[in-house]
Amino acid sequence: MAKIEMIDGQLKVPHNPEIPYIQGDGVGADISPAMLAVVDAAVAKAYQGEKQIQWQALLAGEKAFQETGDYLPSETLASLTEHLIAIKGPLMTPIGEGFRSLNVTLRQTFDLFANVRPVEYFTGVASPVKRPEQVKMTIFRENTEDIYAGIEFESESPQAHRLIDLLKADFGIHQIRFDQTSAIGIKPVSPDGTKRLVRAAFDHAIANGQQRLTLVHKGNIMKFTEGGFKKWGYEVAKDYPTFTVNDFNAIKAKEGIEAAKTAKATALAEGKIYVDDAIADNFLQQILLNPSEYQVVATLNLNGDYISDALAAQVGGIGISPGANINFITGHAIFEATHGTAPDIAGLGLANPSSLILSSVMMLDFMGWTAAAALVKAALASTIASGQTTRDLGGDLSTTDFTQALLDKI
Ligand code: NAI
Repeated sequence: MAKIEMIDGQLKVPHNPEIPYIQGDGVGADISPAMLAVVDAAVAKAYQGEKQIQWQALLAGEKAFQETGDYLPSETLASLTEHLIAIKGPLMTPIGEGFRSLNVTLRQTFDLFANVRPVEYFTGVASPVKRPEQVKMTIFRENTEDIYAGIEFESESPQAHRLIDLLKADFGIHQIRFDQTSAIGIKPVSPDGTKRLVRAAFDHAIANGQQRLTLVHKGNIMKFTEGGFKKWGYEVAKDYPTFTVNDFNAIKAKEGIEAAKTAKATALAEGKIYVDDAIADNFLQQILLNPSEYQVVATLNLNGDYISDALAAQVGGIGISPGANINFITGHAIFEATHGTAPDIAGLGLANPSSLILSSVMMLDFMGWTAAAALVKAALASTIASGQTTRDLGGDLSTTDFTQALLDKI
């Protein structure tokens, strides 16, 4: 039995680690076998038999419900707890009162505080913008806080009335325009939550030689929550080799713009990271107008939700966008396809496995198996570039034929 462990903040990966995978509902049955075959081939090629993943199938979602009567069996949670790293296909959200989204449950159970979404363009993919190749960013979206935490009270509910009365009586709040009928949501944002996310973003920038990190927020309007995120983000920057936009402005005020530009160029030449921030609405313009300016982005939960899907659309859609939910402190990480179960094409052999396969690239990188990761990514890039694609990308290959093309390349 060889398990991945976190020892003194370092992930220890044996040569034959057990890694659980959840096939997923709907197209999960098409794309998960494709991903397993491609990863196995790349690992075999890169390490010539010295390393091999021992896959462990775990039940979750509809398949789990049919077999065990439980959407997320306790054995699955126990295995995920023990193995740290896992990869999963999409899971349907059970419909009906009292069911939480399985994805949300997994995020909360393992406190997977960073949603990591690398976004880049692959030649050959249809994009709605003129220069999609200028997009190459990694979004670090805070995953546990913000208005997204789900603390909400329905319009005219006793809880909403009570909270509004409290705000009026004890906090002098009189700007709730319709205080009799408003629903109310709560937005918790903390220095603890912000700093662990921003640290993960800096660590990623350093590990990947990226020299620009942007904090995205709406601190101009929400001064203590989103403004707090910005402030705490800059505090974290002090612990890293950085040159911030504040340093730039201070030099500019004292010595002029040319001196500030020189100082920035010197800092970058020394390998420092340039840190700035952007207000979320402006940032959504900037990613269309000047995408090549940005590399690593750290942002709050709701902004991150919008930004990662906007960027995915810019490079050709969520069918090829990977993602992971990670707790960089405990090492728990779940890599996943970012799309859903695609019930309209499930079982037809039409699904594009690229999102899940690119998630496996993230997983291999996270494990430090970078040679295998590079093989998978290169095979995917050249296969798509040669026009061999599934129907969603304009081609005519089935999931199996596309997978075979990748295996041939590897
Ligand atoms: P969806 O992503 O499943 O489908 C949206 C559209 O994209 C459909 O036309 C589908 O055919 C297409 N599509 C998705 N993946 C594709 C692939 N790999 N290859 C080719 N085409 C693909 O989103 P929808 O319909 O909103 O959700 C369906 C179910 O999935 C719901 O139960 C939802 O809760 C769940 N879901 C699960 C997610 C997860 O587990 N991470 C994420 C999003 C939705």
